[in-house]
Amino acid sequence: MPNGYISSLEEVVELRKRLDKDGKKLVLTNGAFDLLHVGHVRYLTEAAALGDSLVVAINGDESVRELKGPGRPINSAEERAEMLRALRCVDRVVVFEDRRASGVIEAIHPHIYTKGGDYTPDSLIDEEKQLLDRLGIEIRILSLVPGKSTSSTLAKMSEGDGRPKRVAILGSGTGSNARAILQAAADGKLGGEVALVLSDVADAGILKIASEFEVPAIAIDPGSKKGGHLTDAALKEIHDRLQAASIDLVALAGFMRIVREPLLSAYAGRMLNLHPSLLPKHPGLHACKKAIDAGDTESGCTIHLVDAGVDTGEILRQEKVPILRGDSPDELQARIQSKEHVAYPEVIAERLAEIQPC
Ligand code: GRF
Repeated sequence: MPNGYISSLEEVVELRKRLDKDGKKLVLTNGAFDLLHVGHVRYLTEAAALGDSLVVAINGDESVRELKGPGRPINSAEERAEMLRALRCVDRVVVFEDRRASGVIEAIHPHIYTKGGDYTPDSLIDEEKQLLDRLGIEIRILSLVPGKSTSSTLAKMSEGDGRPKRVAILGSGTGSNARAILQAAADGKLGGEVALVLSDVADAGILKIASEFEVPAIAIDPGSKKGGHLTDAALKEIHDRLQAASIDLVALAGFMRIVREPLLSAYAGRMLNLHPSLLPKHPGLHACKKAIDAGDTESGCTIHLVDAGVDTGEILRQEKVPILRGDSPDELQARIQSKEHVAYPEVIAERLAEIQPC
């Protein structure tokens, strides 16, 4: 849907051909570019300097909402394109609707593909990296301007609201991740406060840890359903308690129950889960044992959004660890947890910065 500021893929492909003829280079980058800030401008200026024409592929509105959560994008694709085209360094803007950029990379076939910031060539999504390698496209990673991001801009804006964002943790077990999250909040690193801890297990360690941090800790009766299921009454109680506590974000940390409605809709894009495998490998129970039994040489943790499936939601972060010869599931779990305790509070802080209070 090209407007005056959005180019069609065909136009950009033509541009690429013209540049080729003249021995010039097309640089492609992609992102949401929802709230333009000086970090974007410097990054794009640097990206443009790598070649002769800079094309920016921006996510369509639906994929920004999926990636960044409800309330995003703040600006429509047309508006974002208009802002980007006002920059001297940007030659064309195209819109793509997939979550991944592979389709647009393949169609445009740039000479150079660039990403910003915390990406490294190794952390590019495998699908994109394989494609770039196959097409012989040069990958350049540019540094981001410290402290200048959409998340930090939104966080600064919401500081003025007067109320810290509120996190609830749901867990069934020991609570080592809950401790890491509570400690990050106590150290002022979460960008919000932990306002509630819920468990479906009355004597779970996680409830004791919450009490240590003087955070309300409540046991919910899961009802009579077996396995990972909760009764409708239990789901309603969890929902009502979260609402009563004005919770903005829910973090599942070892919560051994399947989440259903009304929770999914109430916290779409605001409910995170932590899973001890590199999803989509080994979803569900006993993930460490499954990875060892499968003969995998590495595993890790995945932090993802919760959807109606089991461990299927949008992946926000993965951290890898090696599987050593002779590892027991418990040994592997402990190695994975040391990564979880660092990554989970960080991802919660990033997500909190991106969402508006409920
Ligand atoms: C974590 O290792 C997580 O990956 C899995 O359950 C475990 C919970 O551990 N979902 P803890 O209760 O946080 O110690």
